Amino acid sequence: MPARPCNIVYIATSLDGYIAGRDDDMSWLPQQIDEAEAGDFGFSEFLDGIDAIVMGRRTLEAVADFDPWPYTKPLFVLSRNMRKPPAHLKGKVHCTSGSPRSIVQDLNRRGYARLYIDGGETIRHFLERDMIDRMIITQVPVLLGGGVPLFAELERPLNFLHREWRSLAGGLMMSIYDRDRDA
Ligand SMILES: NC(=O)c1ccc[n+]([C@@H]2O[C@H](COP(=O)([O-])OP(=O)(O)OC[C@H]3O[C@@H](n4cnc5c(N)ncnc54)[C@H](OP(=O)(O)O)[C@@H]3O)[C@@H](O)[C@H]2O)c1
Repeated sequence: MPARPCNIVYIATSLDGYIAGRDDDMSWLPQQIDEAEAGDFGFSEFLDGIDAIVMGRRTLEAVADFDPWPYTKPLFVLSRNMRKPPAHLKGKVHCTSGSPRSIVQDLNRRGYARLYIDGGETIRHFLERDMIDRMIITQVPVLLGGGVPLFAELERPLNFLHREWRSLAGGLMMSIYDRDRDA
């Protein structure tokens, strides 16, 4: 993990850079992972190393019914409208809103230093403000041709150092990138 505090993306994408297919289709992901029979690809270990999760409201809706609940750290859902988390997630999920900077400052002040940032729109907002320090991206060998993109246009290029890659079962490729602010 980079020096504290830091904001980290841990996500799976298609070869053409989508995190969900059209109509939020995620069937491409479970199929690949089932075939791989490779556990959780280090997700639990990754969660152990972070302090809290910052997740977009649409992603929360996609995971809200996961059973068992996989997120072992406090989860802060971003929404301009949601005031209360779903009843069954009370105590596990907290609602928040604001700019990426104000959200991070608030969480850092409360002792949450290493933050896992999740959700396409959410990650794109953080990247627009150059507030992502590390990206752990697992590429799935499929072209979805459309859906929810991970990246969008930026005002300027952001350089990253390619730290590590791991070839995973099922043809998945995990890469770790650290933001290079000296480039
Ligand atoms: N492949 C993967 O590993 C992976 C990982 C995560 C998600 N996904 C998929 O990605 C899709 C969801 O991504 P998404 O890009 O549509 O949305 P998202 O980032 O999960 O959620 C977007 C919503 O978050 C809220 N939001 C974002 N920034 C905010 C801010 N600064 N302040 C307040 N609220 C803020 C808004 O909610 P309100 O509209 O309520 O204001 C916005 O509509 C789902 O299909 C999910 O399954 C895939």
